[in-house]
Amino acid sequence: MKITAINAGPRARGNTAALLNCALDIAALEGHDVKLIQLSELTFKGCRSCFVCKLDKEPNRSQAVCAVKDDLSEVLTEAKSSDMLLIGSPIYFGNYAADYYALLERLFFPGLVYSKGVAPIIEKPVPAGFIFTMNTTAPQNYVPMFEETILNYERFMGGDAEVLVVADTCQFPDYSKYVSDMFDAKHKSSRRITPFSEEYVRTEKFMRDLLKKQKKR
Ligand SMILES: Cc1cc2nc3c(=O)[nH]c(=O)nc-3n(C[C@H](O)[C@H](O)[C@H](O)COP(=O)(O)O)c2cc1C
Repeated sequence: MKITAINAGPRARGNTAALLNCALDIAALEGHDVKLIQLSELTFKGCRSCFVCKLDKEPNRSQAVCAVKDDLSEVLTEAKSSDMLLIGSPIYFGNYAADYYALLERLFFPGLVYSKGVAPIIEKPVPAGFIFTMNTTAPQNYVPMFEETILNYERFMGGDAEVLVVADTCQFPDYSKYVSDMFDAKHKSSRRITPFSEEYVRTEKFMRDLLKKQKKR
């Protein structure tokens, strides 16, 4: 299978990237063709609200492709042609990161048909695994948002979606260098993502389960 991971967090070496890489390593070991896209290295914007995707005789309409051409265009094509997507984002102010929204606006909106009773255009259903990382120790507060994410994804991309929540992350390598006394530095350093760390092992299992689920189909 072609498996594409997209990190919507700005840090190419942060928690989200580490866990996406961990999941891709499992997939590669099982012989899949894997790739990680770091959105912060690209130049793009969210939906421009140009409505070209809703024009009556727009040649791209049936393929539900975003008409805007920038660095995200290729990512959108890759995403739609993948057999599985992994999408990662940190939580910022109780929401997803800005690039995450830009990605999903342009991935989902072209498929949405403004006609009564017409379902979104899905050429090929793509199952997905979402990896969301956050500082909080109370991730249950975000569960309604994660549930909505799954529903939206399944509606617009057609494949099943699963979410892996990784909370209480380590935000910087050395807490003593930052004004951060509200955190227990020792505890936070124990939360670093390393091979064999708790969250790394959970991510490996998450990926194995996603792959198993696809095999059964
Ligand atoms: C601008 C900003 C806002 C944040 N807001 C939240 C938040 O609302 N809730 C939370 O649990 N963590 C919050 N965090 C912490 C990050 O979600 C967390 O450290 C995450 O694992 C960072 O991912 P990364 O290492 O891939 O960059 C915030 C971090 C930043 C930089």
